[in-house]
Amino acid sequence: MAAPRWKTIVERALLKDSKQNTIQLATLDRDAARFGVDLIPRVRSHVFRRFLSSPNTPSLPLIITSTDIRSAKATQLTEVSHKAELVWWLESTVQQLRIICDVYVVPSPKHPLASKFQELLLESSPSSALSIFRDKDWEADRVDLFRSMSPRMKASWCRPIPGSQLSPNENLKNWPTEIHDPAEGHSEGDKNSPEYEEAQRHWEFALENFATIIIDPLEVDYVDAKMKAIFRKKYSEDRGMIWEEEELVL
Ligand SMILES: Cc1cc2nc3c(=O)[nH]c(=O)nc-3n(C[C@H](O)[C@H](O)[C@H](O)COP(=O)(O)O)c2cc1C
Repeated sequence: MAAPRWKTIVERALLKDSKQNTIQLATLDRDAARFGVDLIPRVRSHVFRRFLSSPNTPSLPLIITSTDIRSAKATQLTEVSHKAELVWWLESTVQQLRIICDVYVVPSPKHPLASKFQELLLESSPSSALSIFRDKDWEADRVDLFRSMSPRMKASWCRPIPGSQLSPNENLKNWPTEIHDPAEGHSEGDKNSPEYEEAQRHWEFALENFATIIIDPLEVDYVDAKMKAIFRKKYSEDRGMIWEEEELVL
């Protein structure tokens, strides 16, 4: 069992240019009545963080990104459908991948949606990539992912609710611009200082809002436009942990 061909395509393109780490993720939104429909697609950019695959089952990798649990997409993925599609445009190799996927949101264990993720994890089909990671410590993984973010990026999880109206009285200067682990910048003696308390409050609030997003790919539509004859292929996971390949008309 080898890594799927589509994953190798992405890895090769990232080796050529690691800046191609922006993917677009489309979900379904029920807030659609004003457009005269029950559901409307919503799409947005995400930073690809890494692949997660098991050495025993490299054919079923997961894709990891992150979000703010208060964002609209988290509601769409948990309340409307966890089926989504992502598109990855790889400019350096002139390739496009469109990936139909199951998407799971992993919030802080204190968040009401944490039990929903645990349920989905337990119910995951034994042939899914997610089920391979049923025993993984997803909370430790979430904290590690948060720690890997830059101090400026960490501060983005400390803002008011994403997408909420910016109040005219809101002073943007009061929002922290960087967040650091209070344990790293302060000695034992500092622990009662107002600076330490503020740093601790910001760290905890940002970490509470931070969520891992797990993308479990189900089907990949691949277009290679760099060849003289542009070609298109479909990779489908046949639920037997093997990806089948089929050539398509462009
Ligand atoms: C280059 C780029 C990368 C982004 N990466 C992320 C990301 O990794 N996670 C995220 O939640 N939002 C990311 N965003 C912001 C989203 O695209 C989006 O504007 C925001 O999350 C609100 O989306 P929502 O209202 O549909 O939840 C990124 C935006 C840009 C322009």
